[in-house]
Amino acid sequence: MNLISFKNLYFSSLLYYYLLSLQLASVHAANFNLTNNCSYTVWAAAVPGGGRELKHGQEWVFNTDPNFADRGQIWARTNCKFDKNGNGKCENGDCNGAELCVSEGTRPYTLAEYSFERNQINNLDFFDISVASGFNVPMEFRGTSSDCSKVIKCVGDINGFCPTELRHSGGCYHPCTIFKNNQFCCLGVIPRCDPSEAYFKFFKDLCPNAYSYTLDDVTSTLTCPTGTDYKVVFCPSST
Ligand SMILES: *[C@@H]1O[C@H](CO)[C@@H](O)[C@H](O)[C@H]1NC(C)=O
Ligand SMILES: *[C@@H]1O[C@H](CO)[C@@H](O)[C@H](O)[C@H]1NC(C)=O
Repeated sequence: MNLISFKNLYFSSLLYYYLLSLQLASVHAANFNLTNNCSYTVWAAAVPGGGRELKHGQEWVFNTDPNFADRGQIWARTNCKFDKNGNGKCENGDCNGAELCVSEGTRPYTLAEYSFERNQINNLDFFDISVASGFNVPMEFRGTSSDCSKVIKCVGDINGFCPTELRHSGGCYHPCTIFKNNQFCCLGVIPRCDPSEAYFKFFKDLCPNAYSYTLDDVTSTLTCPTGTDYKVVFCPSST
């Protein structure tokens, strides 16, 4: 093989892998459908994605940028007021005053999380609902593809039963946010949290399928095959 044809071969195989990766990426973009079924308005937050006001019954459909969004978070902000430039404040879940979220919100808020392992051997999506950042709005997170319609719900009345010391207007703090210690934040030399701890039990009893603390049981995470589409419902039916 002379040098020229070797070079051509080298570049064409680079091009081949480049095109292949583009193709894989476009195949694996996930669509998200966020629907507000609450009687009140929420300002949906998605990182990546931004944010959008959703009145009762409204939906926001977007897809992830597969070259960038291997992980993401979705939550609801309540009682927001923004000016024309998209600056303002929300009662909870606030994104540093911005209408379009680029980083995490101000606690407490119920959190839907996902992590896609697109180019790994198993090609799996992992997703969960967490109350490790507290709770504000009941949520459902589910796959909506024909081969994966697994569903997680967190619909218990956590705000209603929230212990006084964790209360926040429109929400309920996780004890880690309030007490900031190893016991509630699962920190320390050998990080662990005690599942029988009363606050964790409180969250687990009302939302059994959600992560109630950082190192909660892995059974709280569901998997779907790469390429699955997802739906998030704020205030879903409780059954
Ligand atoms: C999003 O979900 C809502 C509620 O289930 C549904 O009515 C709507 O058709 C969905 N939108 C899209 C574009 O799939
Ligand atoms: C919306 O909430 C009502 C009850 O408030 C419930 O009957 C309905 O099933 C919910 N819709 C969805 C899409 O969860």
